[in-house]
Amino acid sequence: MHLSRKQIAGLPARPLHTGRNATKASIDLVQVGGRAVVVKDVAGRPAPVRWWLGPWQLDRECVAYRRLEGLAGVPRLLSRLDRQAIALEFVDGPALAILRRGDLTEGFFNQLEGLVRAMHARGVAHGDLHRHDVLRGPDGAPRIVDFSTSLTAGTGWLRHLLFRQMCQADRRAVAKLRARFLGAGAAALSPPRPALYRAGHLLGRLLRPLRRKGDRPPRGTPPGSPPAGTGRR
Ligand SMILES: Nc1ncnc2c1ncn2[C@@H]1O[C@H](COP(=O)(O)OP(=O)(O)OP(=O)(O)O)[C@@H](O)[C@H]1O
Ligand SMILES: [Mg+2]
Repeated sequence: MHLSRKQIAGLPARPLHTGRNATKASIDLVQVGGRAVVVKDVAGRPAPVRWWLGPWQLDRECVAYRRLEGLAGVPRLLSRLDRQAIALEFVDGPALAILRRGDLTEGFFNQLEGLVRAMHARGVAHGDLHRHDVLRGPDGAPRIVDFSTSLTAGTGWLRHLLFRQMCQADRRAVAKLRARFLGAGAAALSPPRPALYRAGHLLGRLLRPLRRKGDRPPRGTPPGSPPAGTGRR
């Protein structure tokens, strides 16, 4: 399927997900000839995102989706509309973010573990797998989306190191999701946070006082209200 921006302009569409901030793509569900297609688009974002960050992330996604083509559990990349947008196969099912404990079985997480293993074997590490990026497909099996932070395996020691650390982060993310939905016992299986992620986490904590200053609530906010942007993903 080859699609261009011109071809989808004016087709029936509804927003599927509004980006959390100005650096994020808008995600729309577009009806193309009776078929629902997901369009991830940064064209409406500020210039640095529209011309640099967004296309760079979409390039990463395309490389990952191409390597994963045909792997059950990963939606198909249908088309690169232009530098600013891609079209993806629609997964008609909820993200884990809107499901509750008890909604998913141990079998689901065993399948998810297998899917992540297969993804790594194809040379793709996701790098930021969280409950918004894992969906329960219409057949009840897991699907993974959002490869904007992914890394593909390649040559060179640094890439090798990064790839291994990101694979470990993916396995840890699955173990944490399993624990979240099935109970704390499952957490014992969680691999440790990779060293590079620990360093990033530490840096984030050191910078937190600076961010706090910026996050000061607007005048008139009742005392005790949580600062903006502190909600967990
Ligand atoms: N192919 C798809 N089928 C169904 N839903 C999708 C698909 N791709 C993305 N979504 C939905 O849109 C949401 C956002 O997509 P994605 O994670 O790719 O964008 P993002 O810019 O990284 O957003 P965020 O950082 O807020 O997660 C996903 O959490 C998922 O709910
Ligand atoms: Mg995402």
